[in-house]
Amino acid sequence: MNEVFENIYSRRSVRNYKPIDVPDDTVRELIKAGTYAPSAVNRQPWRFVVIKNKETITRLSERAKKLWLDGLDKVGESSDPQVQRLANVMQRPEFNVFYGAQVLILIFGASRASSHQGASEAEFENIMLIDGCAAAAENMMLAARSLGIGSCWIGFGMPLDSDQEIRQELKVPDGYRLMVPLIFGYPVKDIEKAPPREEDVILNWIA
Ligand SMILES: Cc1cc2nc3c(=O)[nH]c(=O)nc-3n(C[C@H](O)[C@H](O)[C@H](O)COP(=O)(O)O)c2cc1C
Repeated sequence: MNEVFENIYSRRSVRNYKPIDVPDDTVRELIKAGTYAPSAVNRQPWRFVVIKNKETITRLSERAKKLWLDGLDKVGESSDPQVQRLANVMQRPEFNVFYGAQVLILIFGASRASSHQGASEAEFENIMLIDGCAAAAENMMLAARSLGIGSCWIGFGMPLDSDQEIRQELKVPDGYRLMVPLIFGYPVKDIEKAPPREEDVILNWIA
């Protein structure tokens, strides 16, 4: 198998990291790999905030947990076991949504949405941002894997987007929306083999 396939098939989400710095040059290279992703009409909508400060990462984790729990409160007493499980996890004081990773990279999408846009235009804009940033994220995770660096996409970090204080602290301009929180670091142990994927995924094949 060639190295690219090998890399794709062996990438796993890593949730346990060694306390070893990921050099700044390496972080920059990962971001560069992200920017080589495809994007609709080549808009390159991604912008990156890099956080290597441990105290800041832990504080952002606490904030994200609080925002999740506030959100769940608003939903009320849910009977959905998944929501209950999420609430239990978020309430654990030792739980860090960023798993003690050495680097947190928040990928923001630079929105050009305006009040003059119609609904379908705004929807297209939305899709362009999300899909471009997701493609950049996957490039970065695969590039990291090729360097022996682990990564994980952290959807739990998403509520941070709506926190004005955090946005100010991170110097994120208005109009930029958080699309993908990503963590990186050196894995504590060898990455385990990926669980088998569903094989019956082709809906139709018209020859
Ligand atoms: C949109 C998205 C959000 C995710 N959010 C989280 C998260 O908040 N916490 C986490 O531990 N893993 C998260 N993951 C990682 C998935 O759990 C993981 O990719 C999936 O279980 C498959 O495992 P693998 O990446 O090792 O192949 C997320 C993945 C995606 C694509």
